[in-house]
Amino acid sequence: MVSEVRTRQLLRSAFRDLGDTALKRRQLIKGGLGLGALTLAGSGLMVSLGARNSGAVARSISSAKRQMPIPMQLESINDAQLELTMGAGEWEILPGIKTPTTGFNGPCLGPTVRVRNGQDVPVIYRNTLTESIAVHGHGLHVPGEVDGGPQREIEPGGSWSLELPIRQQACTSWYHPHTHGRTGPQTYKGLAGFIIIDDENSDSLPLPKTYGVDDLPVVIQDRALNSQGRLIYSVEDAEDGLMAETITVNGIANPVRAVPAGLVRLRLLNGSNARYYRFRFSDDRVFYKIATDGGFLEEPVPIREVVMLPGERNEIVVDFSDGNPAMLVSGPGLIGAANTERRDRDNRERGDGDSRERRDEDSRERRNGDGRRRRNDWEPGGMNDAFDILEFTVDPRLPALRGPLPRSLNTISRPTVRNDWPVRRFELFMDDDDRRRRLLFGRREDGEMSMGINGRPMDMQVINERVRRNQWERWVVRSYDGSHPFHVHGCSFLLLSQEGRPVSDENAGWKDTVRVDDRAEFIVRFDHEAKDEYPYMYHCHILEHEDRGMMGQFTVT
Ligand code: C2O
Ligand code: CU
Ligand code: CU
Repeated sequence: MVSEVRTRQLLRSAFRDLGDTALKRRQLIKGGLGLGALTLAGSGLMVSLGARNSGAVARSISSAKRQMPIPMQLESINDAQLELTMGAGEWEILPGIKTPTTGFNGPCLGPTVRVRNGQDVPVIYRNTLTESIAVHGHGLHVPGEVDGGPQREIEPGGSWSLELPIRQQACTSWYHPHTHGRTGPQTYKGLAGFIIIDDENSDSLPLPKTYGVDDLPVVIQDRALNSQGRLIYSVEDAEDGLMAETITVNGIANPVRAVPAGLVRLRLLNGSNARYYRFRFSDDRVFYKIATDGGFLEEPVPIREVVMLPGERNEIVVDFSDGNPAMLVSGPGLIGAANTERRDRDNRERGDGDSRERRDEDSRERRNGDGRRRRNDWEPGGMNDAFDILEFTVDPRLPALRGPLPRSLNTISRPTVRNDWPVRRFELFMDDDDRRRRLLFGRREDGEMSMGINGRPMDMQVINERVRRNQWERWVVRSYDGSHPFHVHGCSFLLLSQEGRPVSDENAGWKDTVRVDDRAEFIVRFDHEAKDEYPYMYHCHILEHEDRGMMGQFTVT
């Protein structure tokens, strides 16, 4: 705690004492207050475990290991306003190579905003960049007015002060740009951070909770860098969702993390624009899923792999008490290997390796078939691409929490679905060879694919749905063109079924983003208001799909 206070003071004085924004930023970077800083709770020391740039010549730059940085925490004590300043900087995604990036209060990504249920948190976002940016709190149940959708653009040089009324259970959420048509490139450049909500339940559960030691925020994002170390974001390549080959964790490639010989909690966030992951450990060890997007599961669910789509969060607990190191990896995994081979073979036979073509081909196949998805034929989002994500080593000197895990984590009161609840249907589409859509919508003038929901692309002037507050509804989401992570603002929902199947234990918790390959159904209720001026959004969380119109607006009154 001592160290956190110090961090906050440092941050505050850094802002107070310097007039010039650029200078401020430089100071913040030097002071290690951005991503490079780690607060070792309890030790009273601020230890920078960030980019350890030893000057030693690495044989292969890209394989050099660095400790995974931990974003500093930003808390509002005594109603102090949290300052989140967006600015440009340089950041070593690869060791020794300076990449121009953007971040909040630092060169890349941003601090972890730590709040409690019941708190009213004053926040100010400042924009020192040269383009307008809207910033959204993904996973927050807050009124539309402070949701930070595309209606809330912050001009260059401008700021937005708001108060976030936190009225929801403990969970891991995040903040990121939500600018109309530019969410993809802005998030890609580095603007994103965690929001962690605590409550009495999370306080009392005997789970790992020493931030930065056995409770680790872990955001996974894929990036492409050119030979000068600049981020590549090409609109053409990204048309159907940007996927790249350099995997970063908390902003850096090839991270390693020393953890205690005990239980370690990972707050996983897929912060990628479009890539799906199938995470597991190199030794195929069992780990426990304890929380989904919106809060704790009722009990820990033992699993060996977890699939995560863009925007999704999962908290998992891994047992390192045997002292064995392990690598978090992503790829074909336990049940996927055969599928990859089959897909590769199919693609070879088709003679096309292009993902756009493949996706079209796949969706056409599915539509022309018996209408039932053949699960094993098709793995979207690059989910079968094999990557090393994050290496763990065990340091027995770190304070360790030993098991067992609590048997009960949460109570989820699931209402019985009633026939008189309103039903809303959403159909996600991307233009392809479908003649009807081509006739109706054609290609967009700029030649980009057109995408949308229920037959129309996102239009800032149109409210697509009007929802009644405090009323349970059933939402049915269908995709006829590929797989999509469907996200809804202002709520958490409970799945009823996915792809026509009952919901697995690990997906039975509160969620705000769900995989829709073909069909997902969930029940949802909104507790806050969103009026016409600042409506909520629902959209595909493949950011390029969102930017190209796979999004809609709705009010809650
Ligand atoms: Cu994470 Cu509307 O977004
Ligand atoms: Cu959101
Ligand atoms: Cu999509």
